[in-house]
Amino acid sequence: MSKYSIAWMPGDGIGQDVMEAARLVLDAMRFDAEYVPCDIGWEFWCREGNALPDRTVKALQSTTCGLFGAITSKPQDDAVKELAPELKSKGLSYFSPIVKLRQMFNLHTNMRPCKSYPGNPLNYRGTALGNPGGGDVPVDQVIFRENTEGSYVGVEFRPIPEAIYTALCANPKMKAWKEKGLENLALSTRIMSKQGCESICRQAFEFAKRNGRKRVTLVEKPNVLRETGGLMTRVFRDMAESYPGIWADEANIDAICMWMFKNPQDYSVLVAENMFGDIVSDLCAGLVGGLGFAPSANLGDKYAVFEPTHGSAPKYAGQYKVNPIAMLLTVKMMFDWLGENERATRLEAAIARVIREGKVRTYDMGGKDTTLDVAKAIAAYAA
Ligand code: IPM
Ligand code: MG
Repeated sequence: MSKYSIAWMPGDGIGQDVMEAARLVLDAMRFDAEYVPCDIGWEFWCREGNALPDRTVKALQSTTCGLFGAITSKPQDDAVKELAPELKSKGLSYFSPIVKLRQMFNLHTNMRPCKSYPGNPLNYRGTALGNPGGGDVPVDQVIFRENTEGSYVGVEFRPIPEAIYTALCANPKMKAWKEKGLENLALSTRIMSKQGCESICRQAFEFAKRNGRKRVTLVEKPNVLRETGGLMTRVFRDMAESYPGIWADEANIDAICMWMFKNPQDYSVLVAENMFGDIVSDLCAGLVGGLGFAPSANLGDKYAVFEPTHGSAPKYAGQYKVNPIAMLLTVKMMFDWLGENERATRLEAAIARVIREGKVRTYDMGGKDTTLDVAKAIAAYAA
């Protein structure tokens, strides 16, 4: 029997290409696991009306953790158009299977490291203060994104239910909405709990403490989102008091987009609710060479699903063109979580070496090599 059982979820588009790259490296490193193939993604939405079939949920329950490629998500109207004819009239609503998975398995923490590796031609050479002559700006950030609450929980309405509309219109400040008429309104909510805020802030501070990081920055917008943003900010401030050695500061989501562009090297650990974490993690990925370099881990108390931050890039599907490094850094995160520390270190060193040497590169890095060429080069050093 293998030591680990890994739920194998390539998903859509280039998810398949990068997962093949992952397998190549895992096998070269003689990782002792059985891989359980699981159906997930667009194909299953179109055919079965469910992008996350029950059999997949069940299969996951008996595995150690999951490895996930990428997913194609489309807005509701477009999604319904692609359903099999017999499913079209069933009133099915599309919901991103990865978002659903995070909620179902209570994977409350999405950890997203963004680190620049020396020699990457895509490293940020931006306007950082103290970098007037150019050169790579060293970026080493870890984002802690709350993963199960906020505006991604799917509490949405169109049109708005009568009861909610009536309650809204009873408020004189809502006059403008009343005039627009119930049938013309859509409502998406942002719901956050004290427990959710505490959990994500705790993860961020504990990570900083364990790793000797000196700064934790909260990304919010409490001056406008007064209730939810206010809740998160209060929790963050209270918690900061029990970490005296760490500088805890706050930035609004809009402002940090500007500051990150000017001085990314100043930031270390970032903590945010779901949507702001989603936004800021793409921004940070851009600072270390793009989504080809951004791994992530969806962490619960007992289960975890590892996935690169990038999407399914349908136009490149099956072409073995895209960069597998985000996926391979994701495998490194899986090793960390499993306590396979030596393997994690070895894999990261192999990735860093291939980047530094610059001999094998996918198109995004200016090369002509394939996804699997890069994986093989990394596997050779990691084996
Ligand atoms: C991500 C992605 C997903 C998200 C999408 C595909 C639902 O953007 O993992 O960052 O928003 O969480
Ligand atoms: Mg995203």
